[in-house]
Amino acid sequence: MDYKNLLYSKEENIAIITLNRPKVLNALNQEIISELHNLFDQLAGDEEVKVVILTGGEKVFAAGADIPFMLGLTPKQAEELATSFHAAFDRIESLNKPVIAAIAGFALGGGCELSMACDLRIATEDAKFGQPEINLGVIPGAGGTQRLSRLVGVSRSKELIYTGKIIDAPTALSYGLINEIVKAEDLLAKAKKLAKGLASKPPVALGAAKRAINYGVEVDKNTGNCFERQCFALLFSTQDQKEGMNAFLEKRKAEFKGN
Ligand code: HXC
Repeated sequence: MDYKNLLYSKEENIAIITLNRPKVLNALNQEIISELHNLFDQLAGDEEVKVVILTGGEKVFAAGADIPFMLGLTPKQAEELATSFHAAFDRIESLNKPVIAAIAGFALGGGCELSMACDLRIATEDAKFGQPEINLGVIPGAGGTQRLSRLVGVSRSKELIYTGKIIDAPTALSYGLINEIVKAEDLLAKAKKLAKGLASKPPVALGAAKRAINYGVEVDKNTGNCFERQCFALLFSTQDQKEGMNAFLEKRKAEFKGN
């Protein structure tokens, strides 16, 4: 499939998606959001792909939703816009395989929200994060008030969203917003290395871990633990569980087949 605002490639079992609106710092318009949604729908059924990397390229991740487009929206149109962002980002978050955001430069507003829909975030030393919507007279509308609080806690989330301030990568790391800082020239290579490592893990177990963690942050601990037990038990119906445990006992590296 051809995309107007995305570059898409596959390297072995890793899919690489690059946001591609460089003239406007990868500002997210309705079209790029629909393209992302469609592509992630397609990736959900692509058994060849084990891990997804989402990047904005070497200069910028994304400077947020398209401001000129938003300027004249009615409340109803704004709600429709937010609903489509939510649907796309929920699709990314619930993908049945890990998604790594590889971030250089600005990840602001909807760009920061997009990165938070991914499972893991690695960023360059010059990456910058923020939810500056307050300075436009609005608030985050693509899940930022919810995902940021879950990632960094309510206090830091309020600090970032109320002030609209932009933080650097070391600060984002200290808040727990990102997982790792890498040199700019190593960004994609490091993302691929991480992706390759995850692609060698048993995919059914990885998917179960993702579902249990994502579900668990939305429910009380007992309900989350109950779901965890069911996921844990189901994994004993996979060949990969037998392979993993046999390989340990036979002192060899496990060869997971994904079944
Ligand atoms: C549309 C944008 C844009 C955006 C940048 N551009 N951000 N266009 N929407 N969000 C455009 C600029 O207009 C400019 O176009 C070009 O990209 C380069 O940007 P500059 O501002 O000249 O670059 P620089 O001086 O380096 O400043 C970078 C920046 C600044 C700090 C990132 O661009 C900025 O503050 N952008 C807006 C960030 C923001 O407020 N994001 C939140 C949006 S609200 P021209 O044609 O002039 O060269 C949001 C809500 C999501 O995301 C919820 C949706 C439901």
